[in-house]
Amino acid sequence: MGADDGAAGTGQPTGGDGRVHRDPRDFADLVARKTREPGGDDLLSALVAVRDEGQRLDEDELLGMAWLLLTAGHTTTVDLIGSGVLALLRHPGQYAAVRADPSLLPAAIEEMVRYDGAVELGISRFTTEEVTVGGVTIPGGGEVVYLAIGSADRDADRFTDPDVFDVRRAGTGHVGFGHGIHYCLGAPLARMEAAIAFRVLLDRCAGLSLAVDPDQVVWQVNPHLRGPAALPVRFTPCLDA
Ligand code: HEM
Repeated sequence: MGADDGAAGTGQPTGGDGRVHRDPRDFADLVARKTREPGGDDLLSALVAVRDEGQRLDEDELLGMAWLLLTAGHTTTVDLIGSGVLALLRHPGQYAAVRADPSLLPAAIEEMVRYDGAVELGISRFTTEEVTVGGVTIPGGGEVVYLAIGSADRDADRFTDPDVFDVRRAGTGHVGFGHGIHYCLGAPLARMEAAIAFRVLLDRCAGLSLAVDPDQVVWQVNPHLRGPAALPVRFTPCLDA
């Protein structure tokens, strides 16, 4: 596709869903504090140092990066865990398989990203030239195009039984973390965080089940990101595990 950078990254700071979607400018106070108190052992302090020492980041880039890392990175991983728990609980056979064989967990997490990924319509590109995709001609010259990851990851030409949640699906090749030069920088971190969360859930939450009918789960209202707004569950804590 004749497209240029202009990625919206992992979603946009849209509000209206009752959840925090900060504007990059909201980080200005935090950045000002990190500037007044340099040398902190944290990511934002390191970015502030890059801005101040090498001038490799200007103020706008710093605020945009802080927003992307702290909000887009956090929200997407929360959504992955929420949607993933829901997928497991809606498919008891798959849940039982992962409980019985935790080595399935990495593949199960990839399947969660494919089946009901956090970035549903979050990638945008600007055309640099006219391009025809699937019989539709998109004009050049800066037309904004949104890519529907959620649809691509259920493409029957790419995946066998795409609507089936299958934790044993091998080598899925999903695009839930994007593709190409803008492939998600935080994918390894998201996978690690999800693996830790699911290990804890599998080991320490006996009898995990939905506390509401699956159809009553309320989804966040956001055209770009997808995940449950809340996921009521029941379980018995097994703190010794
Ligand atoms: C389940 C969790 C996550 C999902 C589904 C996800 C998804 C994505 C997607 C689809 C893109 C491509 C955007 C594009 O092409 O325009 C992307 C880019 C990016 N993601 Fe993630 N992400 C997740 C977690 C994270 C985390 C935890 C971080 C950082 C802490 C992060 C940081 C980034 C950054 C910096 C980019 C931009 C890369 C670039 O433009 O070169 N993401 N992510």
